[in-house]
Amino acid sequence: MTHKLGVAIVGCGFMGRRHMLGFNALHKAGKLEGEVVALLDINRETANKLAEETFELMGVRPKVYTSLNELLQDSAVEAIDIVTDPRTHHTIAIQAMEAGRHVLCEKPLSLTIKTGQMMVAAAERTGMTLATAENYRRGGANRVARAVLESGMLGKLHLMVELWAGGDDSIIISKWRHMKDTGAIGLDMSIHYADIIEYYVGPVERVWGRGIIAEPVRYTQDRSESIIPTGEDSLFASMQTTDGIDVQYTYLPSGLGKRYQQRSLHGTKGSMTVPPDRSDGETVVHLGDRELKGEELIKELAALGTHVNINEVTKAVLGPDGTGGKGAAWADVDAGYLAVEIADFIDAIKNKGAPEVDGMGGLRALAIVYAILESGIAQREVSVAEVLSGKLHAYQDEIDAAMERKK
Ligand SMILES: NC(=O)c1ccc[n+]([C@@H]2O[C@H](COP(=O)([O-])OP(=O)(O)OC[C@H]3O[C@@H](n4cnc5c(N)ncnc54)[C@H](O)[C@@H]3O)[C@@H](O)[C@H]2O)c1
Repeated sequence: MTHKLGVAIVGCGFMGRRHMLGFNALHKAGKLEGEVVALLDINRETANKLAEETFELMGVRPKVYTSLNELLQDSAVEAIDIVTDPRTHHTIAIQAMEAGRHVLCEKPLSLTIKTGQMMVAAAERTGMTLATAENYRRGGANRVARAVLESGMLGKLHLMVELWAGGDDSIIISKWRHMKDTGAIGLDMSIHYADIIEYYVGPVERVWGRGIIAEPVRYTQDRSESIIPTGEDSLFASMQTTDGIDVQYTYLPSGLGKRYQQRSLHGTKGSMTVPPDRSDGETVVHLGDRELKGEELIKELAALGTHVNINEVTKAVLGPDGTGGKGAAWADVDAGYLAVEIADFIDAIKNKGAPEVDGMGGLRALAIVYAILESGIAQREVSVAEVLSGKLHAYQDEIDAAMERKK
């Protein structure tokens, strides 16, 4: 029997539970090359609850820890999956890598560029694998869209539009997602889209944009409680890639009425629209009057000799087209995407390869988001390089200082 990599989930809240369901999706499909051997949360109750559910689903009860020091004494733990709130990512990851553990870390890789650079440096120093959990790109519609771009079907590419506009004044998932010092929702969501943008059109070079707090007061669903956000909920930007492609970016989860979502690519020979992530929609290509989607699009890509990256694990957890299929439950599709990223991480460790999104991949996405926010306060176009290198950091200083104080 091949060795199953021992993994500990660190942070057993909203997303920690979803990660466990990702492990379970692999388990059900017979594709789990690892085992959830331990759970860590500063709240024992939270970890105990997840341990119980893990046992019910996978028949093995992980050990429960409330201290990272103790977890790292456990030799069964070979890798950790960090799913805590972003402020804590770098300290947990660095300590774990120094203790000889591989790390899969939820996005955003870290809360600032400075702390992210420390994580990437720790991975290089220790030789441990550091992967960023970026789930959106793993879905079938994004894989097909990426293949369309690689095929050259759209001709010379001029523009990518990534747009979300519409929402309300409710607290989005949790209070910490509205505070600058803990990772506000504008950053939390834009990280996903920054990863998608580079996945589609390559490195972003220049950014002109800004962030705003569109809803100055946010309320619980029953409106009995309210908070005053300190972090931006909305980001707007115009970007250019090193290949000279323009990107128009908007994330505005505010404004009652219809919500608009658009991911589209525009080239000299055609255009492409991509459905919302984790939906059962299809990627559709328009070449003049000709519309291509589904099987026909896959055949066209094959005829052009373009590979679509829907691997065996993806097929096993999300079906042959990697979308989960028409009408699939959102939770199953979500677990499928997470399963694909977890399998990729385990595979990178076992086969001494690189994960699809490594530490630098996560750090680049963070640099794009901070380039938008830094541009807003510097009131000029900024380069991703000056943010990534740590030269431009005025917006982030307050966050770094707050993390320093909380040490
Ligand atoms: N990829 C996605 O689609 C997606 C979706 C939601 C959340 N996330 C990411 O997942 C991470 C967690 O988000 P969440 O919504 O689950 O947050 P959450 O607040 O629900 O859960 C965080 C958990 O971490 C625990 N925790 C905090 N500090 C800890 C520490 N030092 N050691 C151990 N446990 C600690 C908390 O007690 C809590 O149970 C964030 O980085 C978030 O951006 C990603």
